[in-house]
Amino acid sequence: MSADNLKRMVAEAAIDYVRSGDVIGIGTGSTVDYFISALAQIRSRIESAVASSERSYQKLQEIGIPVVDLNSTDRIALYVDGADQANQHLHLIKGGGGALTREKIIAEASHHFVCIVDETKLTEPFGAFPLPIEVIPMARSLVAREISKMGGTPIWRENFITDNGHEILDVSGLDMSDPLTVETELNQLPGVVAVGLFVRRPADELLVGTLSGVQSLSPQSQD
Ligand code: 5RP
Repeated sequence: MSADNLKRMVAEAAIDYVRSGDVIGIGTGSTVDYFISALAQIRSRIESAVASSERSYQKLQEIGIPVVDLNSTDRIALYVDGADQANQHLHLIKGGGGALTREKIIAEASHHFVCIVDETKLTEPFGAFPLPIEVIPMARSLVAREISKMGGTPIWRENFITDNGHEILDVSGLDMSDPLTVETELNQLPGVVAVGLFVRRPADELLVGTLSGVQSLSPQSQD
């Protein structure tokens, strides 16, 4: 089975988490696109959605799901999003699609964050996927130099502007043995808008599409 089929399978499994009347947070990416397609079948059950990107906003509009601003809703019951890499602690690296800032905001505002990935995303070592960092454009070189001092190798994602009008550095080589400290230190650099590490606010549940079906990982299911 291809990675695409695993993405579709896990995205369709996440539909079971949607309850009638929920406001749902919608992530971004190819796995989430499958989730949005599956939502079309149950759209009458959904009160409204908050989108993490213009891309997901458009797709939700196309299937007739009302999209609301986060400021107009108290709490998001369920947030469904993909990831570029995940570990057994449900820490995530996100932002391959460049939507990390809004994704982080929605994760923070959500009661239950279900992350949907195919099994290729559950790899070791954590940090193998270059860490996306959204930066204010004028601070790009400054932030890059600071990251180099921390032992990372930043690459400017050229010709890419986020939905928020910012730029992205993709950083490899950072020591991820203490990812919470890495997230905290990077967050403190002036010019950094958001770091694609989801450790302070990890997923609550990880659904993994595997060749033998969908597996669910949660903090309770770990040793
Ligand atoms: C976008 C993200 C995506 O969740 C991540 O890039 C995974 O994408 P895909 O489902 O296409 O593999 O963080 O900012």
